[in-house]
Amino acid sequence: MPSIDDRYIKKFPSSANAYNTAGEFFPSGITHQNRHAEPFPVYFNSGSGGVKFDLDNNTIIDFVMGNGSLLQGHAHPKIVEAISSQVARGTHLGGSTLFEIEWAKSVKNLVPWLEQVRFTNSGTESTYLALRCIRAFNKKSKILKFEEHFHGWHEYALPSQGNAGPAFVPQAIMDMVIVVKPELGEVEKALKEHLDIGVVMLEPTGAHYACFPLQPETFLKELRDLTNRHNIVLMFDETITGFRISKGGAQIRYNVQPDISVFGKIVAGGMPGAAIAGSSEILEMMSFKGDPDWDNNQRIGQGGTFNGNPPTAIAGTVGLNMIADEPINQVADSMASRLRTGINSAFKATNIPGFAYGIASIVNLFFGKYPSKLTDLESPNLSYEEVRQNMTAMRKGYLTKAMLTHNVHVMGGQVFMVSSAHTEEQIDQTIRAFELSLRDLKSEGIV
Ligand SMILES: Cc1ncc(COP(=O)(O)O)c(C=O)c1O
Repeated sequence: MPSIDDRYIKKFPSSANAYNTAGEFFPSGITHQNRHAEPFPVYFNSGSGGVKFDLDNNTIIDFVMGNGSLLQGHAHPKIVEAISSQVARGTHLGGSTLFEIEWAKSVKNLVPWLEQVRFTNSGTESTYLALRCIRAFNKKSKILKFEEHFHGWHEYALPSQGNAGPAFVPQAIMDMVIVVKPELGEVEKALKEHLDIGVVMLEPTGAHYACFPLQPETFLKELRDLTNRHNIVLMFDETITGFRISKGGAQIRYNVQPDISVFGKIVAGGMPGAAIAGSSEILEMMSFKGDPDWDNNQRIGQGGTFNGNPPTAIAGTVGLNMIADEPINQVADSMASRLRTGINSAFKATNIPGFAYGIASIVNLFFGKYPSKLTDLESPNLSYEEVRQNMTAMRKGYLTKAMLTHNVHVMGGQVFMVSSAHTEEQIDQTIRAFELSLRDLKSEGIV
C-alpha cells in the first residue's frame, strides 16, 4: 500500500510544478502562512457549490470554504450575479455610495442592537481599528486577550495567538497585552492587578473557532457581568462566528451584547471585507466634530482605499439578506450535524479514540479520547494541554493530506466549515473519506 505522501505526490503533479514556480516569487512559495504544506500545497482554480477543482482536475469536496467566509458555498449564483452586475459599472467610485448604506442595513438587520458600523478590508484591520477606538474612548492603554485566541496579525494580536509567535514585537507593545486563560477567576485577577486594562476581547466560542473550546453559554454572560462591573469594554471578535453560529452570530445565539463586535468573512459575501460595529459612543471616536483640536489631534483616523467598495458591499448585502430570508444557517447546520455523527461513527469503527464536536455549521476534530458525555458534542471540556498534546502539527498535516487523497479538503486538518451548498451525498462521501483517512493514519502510526 503506497504511503499517504506517495499517493499525494502522485495525485497532484500539477500542484507540485506550480509550487516549484511559486518558490521563485514568494517566501515559502505561499501567500498565507496556513497554506504552508510539505511537500507542497494543492493549487486550485475554481469552485462551485460544495466542491472545488485543482490543477489536475480532481473534484475536491471543500470544507475550507474561503477560510470560513463562504456560508453559501462557492460561487452562489445570486452573489455572482450581484457582483457581476456592478463590476462592469465600476469597482471603485472614489466616493460614498448607496451600496455601503444597504450593506450596513443588512448587518444591523441581523444584529439589531448594533448602533453604528464601519467597514474595513479584513478581520486584522477591524480588530486593530476597534482597539484604537476603544483606547480613545476610555483612555486605558492595556488589552486583555485570551491564550491562543486569534485576532489577526497586527502586533496587539500577536501575543499568544497560536500560529507564528510575537517575534520582534516591541516589548512596549507586549507589555500592553495581558494574556490569561478564559476563566473568570483569571480575568478578575488580571483586572484587579492592571487597572489600566480597557478592553477584554475574545473569540466567543473559544480560540481558533473552538479548537480550544470554552463554554460560551455561561462564560459569555459571566464575562459580560464582570466587564460591566469593572466598567471595561467587552469586544467579541466574530470574524468567524458572525452570521454562522446563528443568523446574528454568537452574540445573538447566546443573547449577550458586547460593546464592540468585529465581523469578517461571511459579512462580505465571499469578497474581501470586514466591519467593526456596536456602541456609537465608541465608533464616534472616528467622527469629525468640526473642532480642529479634536479632528486633527484626537480623532481616530481610518483610511483604507477599498473600504466599502461597491462589489464587496453588494456581495455582503446579498449574502446577509439571503441569511436573513432563507434557511441558509439551518441547512448548513443540519449538514454539519450529519457530518459530526458520521465522523463519530468512523472513530468507533476504526477503534481510534477521538471525536467530532462543534456549534452550528462548524465541525471540530479532537484525537485522543472519546467524548465523555453527549453534551461534549457541542462544546466539550478540553484543557489547553490536552488539545496541544493531541492535535499535533504532524496529525493535522497528515490528516489534511490523507483527506485530500480521498478528495476532501479539511481546514487546517481539524475543522470542517460546512456550507448550505454541501449536499447529503457530499457529506456521506466525506464520512467515508474520513474513515479511510483514519485507517491511513493508523497504518502509518500517526494515530
Ligand atoms: C477570529 C479571527 N479574527 C481575526 C481574523 C483575521 O482576519 P483576516 O484574515 O481577514 O485579517 C481571523 C482570521 O481567520 C479570525 O479567525
